[in-house]
Amino acid sequence: MAEYAEPFYDVNLSYAENYECGPFGAFAGALAKSTPSTTETSVSGSAAAATAYDSSSSFLDLPVNLPFGIPAGPLLNSRFTTAAFRMGFDLAVYKTVRTRAWDCNPFPNVLSVHPRTGALTPGDAELDEGVLADSHFERPLSISNSFGVPSRDPDEWQPDMRDAIAAAGLGQLLIPSFQGSRHEGMTTSEYIADHVTAARLVRETGAQLMEMNTSCPNEGRNRLLCDDPRLVGEITQAVKNEIGDMPLIIKLAYLPSDEALERMVRETAAHGSVQAFATINTVSAKLVDRKGNQALPGEGRERSGVCGSAIRSAGLDMVRRLAGMRERLGLDFAIIGIGGVMSPADYQAYRTTGADAVMSATGAMWDCELAHRIKGELPRQ
Ligand SMILES: Cc1cc2nc3c(=O)[nH]c(=O)nc-3n(C[C@H](O)[C@H](O)[C@H](O)COP(=O)(O)O)c2cc1C
Repeated sequence: MAEYAEPFYDVNLSYAENYECGPFGAFAGALAKSTPSTTETSVSGSAAAATAYDSSSSFLDLPVNLPFGIPAGPLLNSRFTTAAFRMGFDLAVYKTVRTRAWDCNPFPNVLSVHPRTGALTPGDAELDEGVLADSHFERPLSISNSFGVPSRDPDEWQPDMRDAIAAAGLGQLLIPSFQGSRHEGMTTSEYIADHVTAARLVRETGAQLMEMNTSCPNEGRNRLLCDDPRLVGEITQAVKNEIGDMPLIIKLAYLPSDEALERMVRETAAHGSVQAFATINTVSAKLVDRKGNQALPGEGRERSGVCGSAIRSAGLDMVRRLAGMRERLGLDFAIIGIGGVMSPADYQAYRTTGADAVMSATGAMWDCELAHRIKGELPRQ
């Protein structure tokens, strides 16, 4: 990993160790500093970043300096989200929480992934044949993400989420992410009710908006909630009844069919239950070591989500198709473009394609200065 600065999430440690001891690298440095002044500017790099970069900019009618940040996942708790704000990421998504404590998949969770052509798009044969994964992290960086969406108990995450919200600077926004949890024998109404409870618990923290994750295998192994637009429609309606006017974002995986994507839009945004789509999550792939054996240890881990550079074209494709549908159907939902954003040029590509906001998980983890670099290349307002 020599050519990278130290990532803020240490892939050589367990999730629990990261939760207790992180963040690392420049994020740890930002956290150690005293609270930043809101009049400081942040574009130069190490200076505190909670500043008005472009005070005229907004996202979902909430003021945001630059609509760029870190999506659900790598920001495990308020120490991580606060460090992200101080490093100039004006949107910080608090890791997906649940209505109950939920274990993490066994270590390791992150491997370096090496697709043959550099890109992975759903439908590629390589995704089922096997993609090489090991611990040799190199550019262009793509990684496995095999955590199983762990969560602390609400008694622990609610106060911590309150702290995370309070630490946002001027023009910065903390976005909580949540999802429902399926268990054996649960009825559909109980499953919907679990989402509503999670949304209520999030609302109680004082959040201004929230994101519901439909794009992890929460429907059973390798099955995604977002593959069922009708059920997503029912759940978002019930959640919206709970949270009222507060904007609701849903996180989507890559949906290959335009028909399925349009059905999703019609079941949610067209009814007013959803105000924004965040997309994409990871692309599922069979991961193998150099000998062709399963790369991640343990049952049920033959496949894993891949994120980072390899999925950029898939992310851009989803944003392009969603933006086209928004125009054609005359709707006004917002789009958060995610997937393989590693550079200022990638940020611009997503904005040009129709994203109202852009986020980077893998890119930001290994490049704590990414927000500063993007701001450094944009004209100041
Ligand atoms: C370490 C890690 C953990 C993640 N956990 C979650 C999660 O809990 N909820 C979620 O919706 N997405 C999760 N994701 C997916 C990211 O939000 C994002 O959609 C995906 O990584 C693609 O972006 P990237 O190419 O910039 O990494 C996670 C990603 C990473 C790298």
